[in-house]
Amino acid sequence: MRLVFLGAPGVGKGTQAKKLEQAYGWTVIATGDLLRAAIANNTPLGQQAKQYIERGELVPDALVNQIVAERLQGLSDFILDGYPRNLAQAEMLEQMLSQPLDAVVYFALDTEALIARLGGRRICPNCGAVYHQIANPSKAGDRCERCGTPLVVREDDNPETIRNRLKVYEEQTAPLIAYYESKNLLRRVDADATPEEVFARLLQALGLQ
Ligand code: AP5
Repeated sequence: MRLVFLGAPGVGKGTQAKKLEQAYGWTVIATGDLLRAAIANNTPLGQQAKQYIERGELVPDALVNQIVAERLQGLSDFILDGYPRNLAQAEMLEQMLSQPLDAVVYFALDTEALIARLGGRRICPNCGAVYHQIANPSKAGDRCERCGTPLVVREDDNPETIRNRLKVYEEQTAPLIAYYESKNLLRRVDADATPEEVFARLLQALGLQ
């Protein structure tokens, strides 16, 4: 399956992408994760992307398009998490693909719930595991239950940057909902439920259950 996951910051795209990857073995291409890894490794890409991510702005299209094009090479099944994020990226994606997308999943959740999810998120800086203080706490307390590393708040999960990310989403990414609807690719999933229930809804939306 060739899938795009669309939805506001904090809606649970990454959580669901990992579940689908575990269940079906499809490769997740998460642009946010790739950019954060580039920053952590201080690569030229990371040095350019850092200032945008810290402000909650989109990283320039040329940089992001290139990393996606590289990752997509030779893949027949994938989940794009966080890409495309504007119309120009969506048009570029169409040019990159040798076969068309099967579906674009739009995860829907109200703003109050998004802020609660982002505010409570804790991540492992070592293995990338994602927790939530209330909804999905680590069994090891303040440490990662997989590798024991102390958990941290993601750099862009502070209130000011969260506000800007939500604004950028509304202005630049939300128009993709109508764009993919007009191409008859959009599958809407109500994300206001437990991760397990949302996953069941996702499978249903994709005709996998
Ligand atoms: P990115 O990393 O893609 O961030 P995002 O889109 O803002 O999405 P998040 O990762 O914040 O949320 P998510 O939907 O994956 O939710 P999660 O599963 O973690 O991008 C970061 C930055 O990189 C951007 O701001 C931009 O600068 C840059 N960037 C990335 N892609 C780009 C592109 N294409 N173009 C330009 N720039 C780009 O869940 C959130 C929390 O909720 C977690 O704590 C989780 O445990 C919890 N949770 C999940 N599901 C549930 C549930 N059902 N119930 C309760 N809690 C839940």
